[in-house]
Amino acid sequence: MKNAYIDFHCHILPGMDFDGTDDIKESVAMCKTLKSQGVATICATPHFYPWNDDVDAFLQRRERTLKDLLSAGVDMEIIPGAEVQIFKSLPEYRADRMCIGDSNVIMLEIPRQRFENWMIESIENTVYKYSLVPVIAHIERYAFPKEILRSFAQIPGVVFQITTSELKYNQSIKGLDLVCSMGVPVVLGSDAHDMRHRHPQFDVIGEKLEEKPKLFSGKLKTAKAIINNCLYSQSILEKLIRTPQKAKEK
Ligand SMILES: [Fe+2]
Repeated sequence: MKNAYIDFHCHILPGMDFDGTDDIKESVAMCKTLKSQGVATICATPHFYPWNDDVDAFLQRRERTLKDLLSAGVDMEIIPGAEVQIFKSLPEYRADRMCIGDSNVIMLEIPRQRFENWMIESIENTVYKYSLVPVIAHIERYAFPKEILRSFAQIPGVVFQITTSELKYNQSIKGLDLVCSMGVPVVLGSDAHDMRHRHPQFDVIGEKLEEKPKLFSGKLKTAKAIINNCLYSQSILEKLIRTPQKAKEK
């Protein structure tokens, strides 16, 4: 294999997401594509909406679909996790059970609405209660102004995740660069959902980037710096997700 990237955000498990793959065949195809793009490890992060899902039911469903995928002959490492959408009472939930693997790293999604102060409070209280490392999913998507982004960057131990496909858009580079200037680790995720509209695009961080010099019109250098910055943080976060949390009670 040419590379051994880790995809920190992927909806790879069949039947787990309302907007994910149709069936196991499509999930297997996604795995093959990611592998051909240099990915060796996938964090399976299906959506979890605390207000309409039950933690036990979710974990059982996740275990079953992961088993199905692995028994379909997928030759990759898949670490189960979740993309947990935050809401005001999140600290009252057993968010620690939704971490990636046996670690204390949790992926959190911000709801699609105007920023409100409770969002930071909800994350901070959850993180504090369970000693978690929060990864904010696709931070570029919210297009937060600099001062809001800075508030998120001040959450203790926070990590930002950016979406690989965004690296091919000239107009996204400035925002991604801003994310990387906040002094927190930034990692990459495909956030792939299927093989149709939201297919895996991890190859954007490799030679595919070089194929689009016109598209970047001078921004290629910045895009490469963003990728190098992320690859460094990837190695640190990968160690963390491989570190079991001692006192984790299931
Ligand atoms: Fe996602």
